[in-house]
Amino acid sequence: AFAMADGAAQAERLLERHRTDNGALPETVAVVLWGTDNLKTEGGPIAQVLRLIGAEPRHDSYGRLCGARLIPLERLGRPRIDVMVSLSGIFRDLLPLQTKLLAEAALLAAEAEEPAEMNFVRKHALAFQAQHGGSLADAALRVFSNADGAYGANVNLMVDNGTWQDEDELAEAYMRRKGHAYGVDGRPRRQDAVMQHMLSTVDATYQNLDSVELGVTTVSHYFDSLGGISRAVRRAKGGAEASVYIGDQTRGAGTVRSLSEQVALESRTRALNPKWYEGMLAHGYEGVRQIEEHVTNTMGWSATTGQVSPWVYQHLAQTYMLDPEMRARLAEL
Ligand code: BEZ
Ligand code: MG
Repeated sequence: AFAMADGAAQAERLLERHRTDNGALPETVAVVLWGTDNLKTEGGPIAQVLRLIGAEPRHDSYGRLCGARLIPLERLGRPRIDVMVSLSGIFRDLLPLQTKLLAEAALLAAEAEEPAEMNFVRKHALAFQAQHGGSLADAALRVFSNADGAYGANVNLMVDNGTWQDEDELAEAYMRRKGHAYGVDGRPRRQDAVMQHMLSTVDATYQNLDSVELGVTTVSHYFDSLGGISRAVRRAKGGAEASVYIGDQTRGAGTVRSLSEQVALESRTRALNPKWYEGMLAHGYEGVRQIEEHVTNTMGWSATTGQVSPWVYQHLAQTYMLDPEMRARLAEL
């Protein structure tokens, strides 16, 4: 119940931010869901996805969670937003019932006989069917993840190892790794045409941040997943960018930031903040490694989204590479 109430507020906050930036509601939002975040918040991000679609959990006569049902449009008060869900491998392993629940919510929305301008899930599913044929169930596949037993998009490994020439290679890696569709039966199938179609409809990509311990530049998994899908969207849209948003739910009611704002905030408070880097350097080589991670992860966001401000690199260069004393300390450690 808490997740549904909070998820509704966060979902509407995201739509409000998108409307402020772009003058309209998004037709499709690509949302990255992780397992740990959902365990910590009793399913907060799952509830956000349900709310965007205009769905809620369905319970059996014993009161147990057993699936999804639609919220009537009159109660929702706006169109159903289409959601392309990208699950981490950990989410898929930990939350199989919730994986099917999300697939059911999308299928129910696609099946609802509502006007296209009030139901973007149905609009996109019917458009796909008109172009490619096949069943409505296939056209309504919205939950994507890795193949059984696989994890991550490998975009982070490619960036860390420098094994790419062109940003489209990062998009391609993302699609190959994360292009397995999970339907209401919970079994993964490759559905490249549906994935490609859905990517081309995405107006915004989104992920939650639920802890101050980790930021989007602290570990490489954020740009691997959210950055990876953002790059895949850009390729599917012939180079047009989608907005990239972070829902910061680490304190208070929560805030939605653009990726550019989030990286700027983290750079000022961490990588460019003497209190942070002196603290790191006091830990010797591990501190140097942490600093290097932040710089590489920042570059990962540039590679995948192109939305990091140039001043961030100017200041990183001045702080670490162009200061002879600092360079000597890093080398020494
Ligand atoms: C997860 O909980 O799904 C997750 C955690 C860390 C990195 C990537 C995914
Ligand atoms: Mg490294």
